[in-house]
Amino acid sequence: QRFWAVVPAAGVGKRMGAEVPKQYLEVLGKPVLQHTLERLLQIDAFSGIVVALGSEDAYWPELACATHPKIRTAPGGKERADSVLSALMSLEGTAAPDDWVLVHDAARLCITSGDIQKLIRTLGNDPVGGILALPVTDTLKGVETGEIIETIDRSRIWRALTPQMFRFGMLKHALIDAAERKLVVTDEASALELQGWRPKFVEGRPDNIKITRPEDLSLAAFYLERQCYE
Ligand code: CTP
Ligand code: MG
Repeated sequence: QRFWAVVPAAGVGKRMGAEVPKQYLEVLGKPVLQHTLERLLQIDAFSGIVVALGSEDAYWPELACATHPKIRTAPGGKERADSVLSALMSLEGTAAPDDWVLVHDAARLCITSGDIQKLIRTLGNDPVGGILALPVTDTLKGVETGEIIETIDRSRIWRALTPQMFRFGMLKHALIDAAERKLVVTDEASALELQGWRPKFVEGRPDNIKITRPEDLSLAAFYLERQCYE
């Protein structure tokens, strides 16, 4: 079967609070989304990359990657899951139900080809698929009305990263079902979990950060430069 990449890039970047959506802010002289797509283009296994864009997006045509033969676009939606589903719908008739789809946030520009290959290598024969994830390092507290009521067992808590790799047919079905039932899914794995599946997780790198707030831009620049020396 084949591999496809889907990149949700239709967010407005509210927490970043910049004029421009965060995927178009520059890090080391290049837009975040350009960095991300260049990393994905390093993976020869991808038959195509679908980028979900906001309806008001005037920046995309300026991107160096915009005309790359492997890259196409789809209209984004209200929530991240809507954007991902729209990208999947655009692959209907092109992707087979058993093909793998790797969904990767536009805002995670420090993704390494090593981590993508690790995910593909580990789960390429899995019936369901799974995600890159990281164990938490801080002690976690359950709180209620401003008071700590418990300490949560850290050993069973992992942070979900992207890429998240699932079968085209299964993922599409799970996202459609979640949308119809008006259930909030903040990542692909949660949509699969609602279907009763148990997605796998593969430990990713801690430098696979998601640009969220202004300080993340310098952190990403630091990681990108450091990765050059690996
Ligand atoms: N995203 C999307 N469509 C949406 C919302 C988000 O494609 N309706 C994308 C974003 O562009 C981003 C990824 O999903 O690459 C992860 O979302 P997030 O980090 O929350 O980005 P934003 O929603 O843009 O940021 P914020 O929540 O601060 O507004
Ligand atoms: Mg958001």
